[in-house]
Amino acid sequence: MAEDPSAPVVVITGASAGIGAALARELAGRRASLVLTARREEVLRELAVTLGGPVEVVPGDVTRRADVERVLERAMARFGGVDVWVNNAGRGITRPSFEAITEQDVDAMVRDNVRSVLHGMQVVLPHFKARKQGVIVNVSSMLSRVPLVSFRAAYSAAKAAVDALTEAARAELAKDFPAIRVVTVLPGVVATEFGNNALGGGPDSRSLPGAQPVDEVARVIADGLFAGPVDLYTRPGYFEMVLAHLRGLAGHPSA
Ligand SMILES: NC(=O)c1ccc[n+]([C@@H]2O[C@H](COP(=O)([O-])OP(=O)(O)OC[C@H]3O[C@@H](n4cnc5c(N)ncnc54)[C@H](OP(=O)(O)O)[C@@H]3O)[C@@H](O)[C@H]2O)c1
Repeated sequence: MAEDPSAPVVVITGASAGIGAALARELAGRRASLVLTARREEVLRELAVTLGGPVEVVPGDVTRRADVERVLERAMARFGGVDVWVNNAGRGITRPSFEAITEQDVDAMVRDNVRSVLHGMQVVLPHFKARKQGVIVNVSSMLSRVPLVSFRAAYSAAKAAVDALTEAARAELAKDFPAIRVVTVLPGVVATEFGNNALGGGPDSRSLPGAQPVDEVARVIADGLFAGPVDLYTRPGYFEMVLAHLRGLAGHPSA
């Protein structure tokens, strides 16, 4: 298929499954040019052939900076630039109690959820600064704002770190690079294999009551890439849940 020079070039990490794969399908339908990365190359290639548009597959592990640098290099070589970079890859954890969290668990959560996002942001930012524009999207979690699911406490902490990094970068860029947009995505439970893939195993996110369909999440993210709130809650009512939580912490009478 001929490549459309006006189509945005979007990099998606963690594109082999779940939210990343659904976002790839959604954006392919909107004629984006895609650069997809994850560790499972065969799964990525199988997805790519179903998308029908220009897709570059770059296998890699986002916890390794050199792999993330290679993603940018391949995107530049194929498409000449990147418009949107989505740091979506991440991993949960299940531990039976707060006391069961180990130091290794904390290191793993920081490696898989925080360093991975930091790599993506730091690798693409020089390119966006040179062009004075671009969109960074970091997929966080409602558990970063309402960390009340104790079996995922170490994950919630890591995603809170993602929120802080995202907001700090946004604040730093606002003055000299106002056209670089930095978005935090805040999903609740989404029907993917996230639960099964968590360190320590299930519960299966797809079996949890009220799990949001993954295609709906992908549509919300795609709609919010270039306009709208930079804190992108994937369902109506989530922002109000966060406010109620914060009011409760502050002992606010309306909580
Ligand atoms: N599902 C939920 O309920 C939920 C809720 C809130 C937030 N989130 C967040 O949404 C994002 C996507 O989660 P999901 O639900 O789509 O989970 P998922 O179904 O488990 O998919 C995770 C994706 O990330 C990739 N990945 C994991 N570690 C990686 C690494 N080190 N390097 C490269 N790719 C890696 C996986 O591919 P490979 O195995 O092929 O590498 C896979 O494509 C995560 O950041 C997650 O924390 C999910």
